[in-house]
Amino acid sequence: MSRIIIKSPAEIELLKTACQVTKDILDQMNDFVRPGISTEDINIFVHELTIKAGARPAPLNYRGYPKSVCTSVNEVVCHGIPNPNIILQAGDIINIDVTSIKNGFYGDSSRMYFVGGREACSAEAVRLVDITKEALMVGINAVEVGKQVGDIGYEIKKFIHHLPQQYGIVRDYTGHGIGRNFHEDPQIIHSAKQSTGAKFKVGMTFTVEPMINLGTADTVLSSQDGWTVRTADNKLSAQWEHTVAITENGIEILTA
Ligand code: MF3
Ligand code: CO
Ligand code: CO
Repeated sequence: MSRIIIKSPAEIELLKTACQVTKDILDQMNDFVRPGISTEDINIFVHELTIKAGARPAPLNYRGYPKSVCTSVNEVVCHGIPNPNIILQAGDIINIDVTSIKNGFYGDSSRMYFVGGREACSAEAVRLVDITKEALMVGINAVEVGKQVGDIGYEIKKFIHHLPQQYGIVRDYTGHGIGRNFHEDPQIIHSAKQSTGAKFKVGMTFTVEPMINLGTADTVLSSQDGWTVRTADNKLSAQWEHTVAITENGIEILTA
């Protein structure tokens, strides 16, 4: 059974302050990400910025997760753990996934960064990152009161499958309701059937966070650390994430 927690306009404003802390941190990553830094350097920077903003990093100690941010490089789909031995190289692509807790609310967003700039990355990597960002916006644009949660995944699937090249849409990890909890109902599946799932209502707040792979949609969870998720074929993966709210005035992207 799905238990969706509806938020008042005042609660959505509080959620937005958390989301804006997250947005500001991700903005600062543009200049920080460069060849030669480690993913632990990113962790330290995110942690410091979060504390400076009067917020707390949600990943730290979440179900035993050891760091303040997820850093997922190349074939890592999500939940990559920052590590001083993982040094970024020109041509890598990295997802940085930040969740800040402020005023008791969780603001969750992630973006992709090109290490050494877009020019340093392969054409297929650039295309993957770009179409995944488009998939996020296609998913968000499917949100409308009266339509259903499955319509997000339906529109993303239609968009991806109409591209000249075939990609894998990850189904093993999903978007989620968000608010006073990191993860709430409903689950947001990024490849779904039209007109399935809960109906969208004013006051719903949730993430859309498609993960798109160059090859297979299948993933493998690291048995070494219990967190890092990789593509089963070790081909590249990309992800973009926003937290959104359905208000009386329409859909608002709180992490934009
Ligand atoms: N931010 C991730 C999400 O989008 C969750 C990370 S959980 C962690 O849902 F423990 F790995 F941080
Ligand atoms: Co996230
Ligand atoms: Co999320």
